[in-house]
Amino acid sequence: MDKGPIGVFDSGYGGLTVLGEIQQLMPEYDYLYLGDNARAPYGTRSFEVVYEFTLQAVRRLFEMGCPLVILACNTASAKALRTIQQCDLPEIDPNRRVLGVIRPTTEIAGTLTRNGHVGIFATQGTILSHTYDIEIGKLHPGVRVTGQACPMWVPLIENKEYDSPGVDYFVKKYIDQLLSRDPDIDTIILGCTHYPLLLSKLRQFCPSHIRLVPQGEYVANSLKDYLHRHPEMEQRITRGGNNRYLTTEHPLNFNENATVFLGRNVQAEHVTL
Ligand code: DGL
Repeated sequence: MDKGPIGVFDSGYGGLTVLGEIQQLMPEYDYLYLGDNARAPYGTRSFEVVYEFTLQAVRRLFEMGCPLVILACNTASAKALRTIQQCDLPEIDPNRRVLGVIRPTTEIAGTLTRNGHVGIFATQGTILSHTYDIEIGKLHPGVRVTGQACPMWVPLIENKEYDSPGVDYFVKKYIDQLLSRDPDIDTIILGCTHYPLLLSKLRQFCPSHIRLVPQGEYVANSLKDYLHRHPEMEQRITRGGNNRYLTTEHPLNFNENATVFLGRNVQAEHVTL
């Protein structure tokens, strides 16, 4: 069977926060990142559109040789993953796999809270899908989950405003809205791969006893565990530490912004879906 890199997909730059953790944990593999920056954000788009865009990206990563694709996007994981796994994969290629970021995050969510009150910051699409509440409810019954949609955060982050004074209003607004609905929350999951860019602002405005949890590290650990449990897939991943980056936008824009998300320079290539 064909060998190839691990594909990592996001609507834009957010997935780079996950890719960075994965590369750090498993630098030996090859990775192919695809950001659909020309059509980001996905967070306010309908189920049908997110599914259609995500399927196009998955097909492209398969065509480029990836045996395994990670949807490093909560919105795509919430709205498209299950349909792709159940309906499209058997027809496209039953030997390839697509995994998301929500399951590994919900697995740890219930273990991090001390009092059983968990908050989720995510896009409107992820919150309205109720995927986090349903999955945490199954794995950790008894944990109270309160979701807060933060529709302004991704546009601000994609426009490099994550550190500006202008972002403060929207950071405080969504924190206040979440905590007014459950003041006992002691753990907040950043259920959008863009949000780690707002961590310092979130730390500034969140009460200090609340634990803020970016998901990249947990997704990386879970992928490592998956590859350990599936040697037939692990053997199909090429090794060489090569990283390629594709964007549906102009590569120069991508290169500039990717540095902030990934902490190092990249040379992206343009791709159409
Ligand atoms: N980074 C994506 C997520 O994890 C979505 C951002 C967007 O396109 O709205 O949900």
